[in-house]
Amino acid sequence: MPASTIRRAVLAASTGVLLVALRATGAPAPPDAALRALYAGPPQSWPRPWLEPGARFTEFAPVPETPEASPADAARIALGQRLFEEPRLSGSGQIACASCHNAEMGFTDGLRTSFGHDRQRGRRNAPALFAARWTHALFWDGREASLEGQVLGPLSDPLEMAGDRARVERWINRQPGYRQAFAGLIGSRRIRLADIAAMIAAYERSLAPPRNRWDRVFAQGPGVLSDQELRGLHLFRTKAGCANCHSGALLTDDRFHNLGLGFYGTARQDLGRWLVTGRAQDVGAFRTPTLRGLIHTRPYMHNGFFPFLEPVVMFYAGGGGPNPERQAAGEAAPPPQADPLLKPRDLTREDREALVAFLRVL
Ligand code: HEC
Ligand code: HEC
Repeated sequence: MPASTIRRAVLAASTGVLLVALRATGAPAPPDAALRALYAGPPQSWPRPWLEPGARFTEFAPVPETPEASPADAARIALGQRLFEEPRLSGSGQIACASCHNAEMGFTDGLRTSFGHDRQRGRRNAPALFAARWTHALFWDGREASLEGQVLGPLSDPLEMAGDRARVERWINRQPGYRQAFAGLIGSRRIRLADIAAMIAAYERSLAPPRNRWDRVFAQGPGVLSDQELRGLHLFRTKAGCANCHSGALLTDDRFHNLGLGFYGTARQDLGRWLVTGRAQDVGAFRTPTLRGLIHTRPYMHNGFFPFLEPVVMFYAGGGGPNPERQAAGEAAPPPQADPLLKPRDLTREDREALVAFLRVL
């Protein structure tokens, strides 16, 4: 690590303790040992993040423990999972929620964008669902506020499950197995679509990111990270600028940003948040996703543009994607505006490798 980086690391320390310690021993400590010392305490004592004006930062934290489900809740969750995996809810009888949100792939489908009914290609990448219960604005453009409301979307979306809501209700009320499973969990004898949605939502709320070494950092300190991973964490908070948008327990600010990936004015364009709000600054903006469980959720971004983490980091080092300066002919939306929190970052090859190593721990 270059001396300038170490100097900055030391300066960024929120307590002066380390400086004093280094002076006391005379010779400078080895770089990685110095970094370990900076990260030895709780996150509140870690080097302060380097933030641009307007960034909204919440300190890094472990994901809250999931409380033990009561027996009634456990029954709702189990039924929700069964419905989540039930292809007969779809028009073709072949597509379940789990077809695109596969638990073994971090609740994604591993595809750039999803295939739905009749193998039609959707426009967006299936997001991991393990953070959905903490998400206030669902979908990449944040158009849905509740998990219950969300379920009804894919069921009848012609590109996803292409189900007919009335048909689904008729069908499920004829299934003795489901009637029995619902009995006692709902008020009436007749199962309604809203009941299906409630069970699936209960299942989704029971999900949490896979537990891994990142969780252990909070309990056991930086000793669980390799030198390279720890350097990645430090870069993420400081020079690489990632903490401007990715922070808190889920490594997201829960806001919408335009990274220049909306392909404005081309056949592939996706206007993102603008489709919901119509505000000029929302053209091409998408919700900052959680970075937990990244090794399970490739490819990345709303359109699955990046197959691996290396090109994601390269992309950020270059300051993000292009934003045309002029309005495209025939386009209702104005040209996208570069996000003020994004700018080119001076990252060496070693820096980029360390960042990727860190992202793989999350
Ligand atoms: C054909 C593939 C497909 C199927 C089937 C499907 N989804 Fe999705 N799901 C997606 C895609 C793609 C998105 C992102 C769409 C967007 O942002 O516009 C998504 C988004 C979501 C989200 C929002 C997550 C977030 O972080 O914003 C939830 C929750 C969800 N799906 C649950 C379900 C449930 C429940 C079902 C079954 C009733 C289901 N999905 C069926 C592909 C699918
Ligand atoms: C200006 C805010 C902002 C900054 C700064 C930022 N991100 Fe992001 N990040 C986002 C948004 C928004 C998306 C989704 C964008 C899209 O799909 O168009 C995203 C997506 C990602 C993804 C893809 C996740 C997935 O599941 O698809 C990764 C990985 C990622 N960011 C890592 C980083 C790293 C590493 C840095 C620092 C080098 C960084 N981000 C800096 C806002 C930001």
